[in-house]
Amino acid sequence: MAQLETLRQAVAVSPNNVPLLLLLAQACLDEFSPEEAREIYDRVLGIEPGRKEAKLGIARALYLDGKLSEAAVRAEAFVGEHPKDASAWLLLSRILLSDGNREQARDHYQKSQQLEGGLKDPALEKELYDGSGHRPLGPSPPSASPKVPVTSQGWHSGESEDTEETENASQGPGEFERPQVTFADVGGMEAVKEEIRMKILYPLNNPELFRAYGKKIGGGVLLYGPPGCGKTLLSRATAGEIKAGFLSIGIHQILDLYLGNSEKNLHQIFEMARSHVPCILFFDEVDALAADRGDLRKSAGRTLINQFLAELDGNVGSNEGILVLGATNAPWHIDPAFRRPGRFDRVLFVPPPDETARAAIIEVLARNKPVTNMDAKSLARKTRDFSGADLKSVFDMTIERCLSVAMKEGRVIPLSTNDLLQTVKSLKPSTRAWFESARNYALYSNQSGFYNDVLTFLGITQ
Ligand SMILES: Nc1ncnc2c1ncn2[C@@H]1O[C@H](COP(=O)(O)OP(=O)(O)OP(=O)(O)O)[C@@H](O)[C@H]1O
Ligand SMILES: [Mg+2]
Repeated sequence: MAQLETLRQAVAVSPNNVPLLLLLAQACLDEFSPEEAREIYDRVLGIEPGRKEAKLGIARALYLDGKLSEAAVRAEAFVGEHPKDASAWLLLSRILLSDGNREQARDHYQKSQQLEGGLKDPALEKELYDGSGHRPLGPSPPSASPKVPVTSQGWHSGESEDTEETENASQGPGEFERPQVTFADVGGMEAVKEEIRMKILYPLNNPELFRAYGKKIGGGVLLYGPPGCGKTLLSRATAGEIKAGFLSIGIHQILDLYLGNSEKNLHQIFEMARSHVPCILFFDEVDALAADRGDLRKSAGRTLINQFLAELDGNVGSNEGILVLGATNAPWHIDPAFRRPGRFDRVLFVPPPDETARAAIIEVLARNKPVTNMDAKSLARKTRDFSGADLKSVFDMTIERCLSVAMKEGRVIPLSTNDLLQTVKSLKPSTRAWFESARNYALYSNQSGFYNDVLTFLGITQ
């Protein structure tokens, strides 16, 4: 309670401080005040419409308040947008179980465990599987498990894996956007921008010139690279540059939300794009369509892939005026059939943000936060290999540290560059693990030079 009061006071001093509001809302949930939590989350969304913690928080608050069907709708929309967020699947599982839907609740629990094995909820697990003889994946839970408080489960767990910019993002497949972001909003990354200009923008603007040299227009472009490094942002900015519409689809949305209806749904998405030309049709997580993926329902898998290829080839409708972009962190999982001419036949490597890009990201992250003497440039210099998402973690962790001091002293303590640097020292950039895998594929399975840019980036070839 004391903590709750301190947080309320801190919020009264800085009412638009989103991290602070989120902490207060979480404390309200912990103290079983879902209505107050709900109000605070709504305020956060008023300040930052895409803020994922607030969206999921509302679902949590509704659940605690016993409003199960509204909670389910919110949680379902959330996992549609953030399919990799294990804690959201866990919440959805809990909601469905309370609603009497044990079977789906089990499926969703399994899903959360596949995404993040460490995120256990022994009490829920017991209720889900008791007496049935079935066990979820991973090690079985301790038999006499303490009851885990619903609200404190895995709250921050999904944060670092999926930092998509969700402003304007659609709730389900098929909503259209007109992105206002352009290359000017993407800090640094000049080489990638230049490649997009050469591979996408110039051909679109000068079709005759390209045809004269026997170059084909159309086909798709695949963006690949480590997570959290701007693939989604760049795609949206590309649409903004050419003032085209933007339709963003997560492959998991197609797979999960429309069980059994995936092919029809995919066709509808392409049709929707066809009726909105010129536009960019952006597929996130295209690797989820890889033929060898376990979670791709076996019977549906092949037909869905074939449908996708037919749509890309323009066999079932003209793709004139549609630019198909795909993004993935795991290009090595992508079915080679996708890379044939006319499909995703051009690839773009999106490397970790360079120093200028990091400084730009830091400036954005510092906005609306109590900071003092912020030196984005020196911070950028000292965060080599950090992704956009990693930088966000640096801020989040530093804020938490400052907040605990603030609570002891009872006043708001602003973040300084030094505080942030201290956090930087305790973190390892996540892109390094990605490069370890990528390096192997680049060295040992570099068909048609697919990974040449990775090799150059790593300084292995020129
Ligand atoms: N060059 C940049 N300038 C400004 N912000 C950036 C830049 N690169 C990344 N960001 C920010 O970092 C975060 C992660 O970027 P984004 O979501 O585009 O990455 P991603 O490569 O699509 O990640 P994932 O693979 O997880 O989908 C976003 O908040 C984005 O706005
Ligand atoms: Mg992305």
